[in-house]
Amino acid sequence: MIGTLDGRTDNVNLFFDKYNAKNFIMTNDLNKNASLGDVTIMPCSVVVCGFFGDTGKGKVISYLALKDKLDVAVRAGVGPNAGHTVIHGGHTYRLSMLPSAFVYEKCRLLIGPGVLVNPDILIREAQDTKSEDRVGIDHQCAIIEARHIETDKAGYLATEIRTTGTGTGPCNAERALRKVKLAKDLPSLKKYLADAPLEVNEAIDRGKNVLIEGTQGTYLSLYHGTYPYCTSKDVTASAACSDVGVGPKKVDDVIIVFKAFTTRVGAGPLPNEISWEEAERRGWAEIATVTGRRRRAAPFSFELAKRAVMLNSATMAAITKIDVLFPECKGVKSYDRLSQGAKDFIEKVEKEIKIPVALIGTGPDALEMVDRRT
Ligand code: IMP
Ligand code: MG
Repeated sequence: MIGTLDGRTDNVNLFFDKYNAKNFIMTNDLNKNASLGDVTIMPCSVVVCGFFGDTGKGKVISYLALKDKLDVAVRAGVGPNAGHTVIHGGHTYRLSMLPSAFVYEKCRLLIGPGVLVNPDILIREAQDTKSEDRVGIDHQCAIIEARHIETDKAGYLATEIRTTGTGTGPCNAERALRKVKLAKDLPSLKKYLADAPLEVNEAIDRGKNVLIEGTQGTYLSLYHGTYPYCTSKDVTASAACSDVGVGPKKVDDVIIVFKAFTTRVGAGPLPNEISWEEAERRGWAEIATVTGRRRRAAPFSFELAKRAVMLNSATMAAITKIDVLFPECKGVKSYDRLSQGAKDFIEKVEKEIKIPVALIGTGPDALEMVDRRT
């Protein structure tokens, strides 16, 4: 039963109490799973997007990598159609294959077998970020080849669906036909090859901090999204786990990322869409990382957010770009310092989605974050 207390739901308050207790145990007993009443500690989290992608997963993941000192980050999702922007230490990184957790330099960076790899892009990103020696690509990742990209850039996929043109749909189609090359077939990837599921599961069993990086967004899912205006596979939390070979019982938290407003690139429905001119007026006008296209914009959708929480079994939410709606919150790092307008918005979201908003992004830098977990 959920009742309201001070405008927040009881289970939201309960979460913050439990989370603080959990963190206490984790920091005092790092190497084994511990429990406090009905709270079991298993330091494996999944990060997914609750809208149409581009909600700031890159920022949230890079914050978590630095703050929680992640031991292992494993990339799930479709492939190089993703675009994650990470801003840290005065640098802006635009990634489409490398895990965003690379900013924490002790973190092992894995690519799960479900993910499609464009070797040129992945190797270049690993070199540019000087993280080559930490990257492991699963033997069974499927390889995107030139013909996949050609097919993706022409005809139905390009003109009707308005895909990213990165070859992921045609590659997944061929994978289903069992005709693609795998990472283990390429000499150029030999030094990176890994057994990602084994490494990830062993890390979880040893009580290490593990994060599964989802990509795209819930409503781009082939199963749960706005078909046919969607990507080429499921991208909800369950699919992310499957991509990296982790079963549902090993996941502790599912962190769902929303932006303070909604955007979408490519074709397909977007409830309450506003014009580009109106988006510019509101400061919501964004350009896509991978394709350079204008992102279509709309106000935050409580309906979509609620359903996304259900589809992903999300345990907590992150909301990014609160400073775009409430400029006075730029760079704020504690909840108390947020303006009343921002707090009212966060509390309204919590009331609707019935899970806590534990992370609140207040600027583009990885560390511009209100973290209510501790
Ligand atoms: P595809 O994934 O390239 O096949 O594109 C299918 C649809 O998903 C298109 O509308 C793309 O714009 C969209 N899409 C795919 N990946 C992303 C992403 O990472 N962010 C936002 N939109 C995406
Ligand atoms: Mg993106």
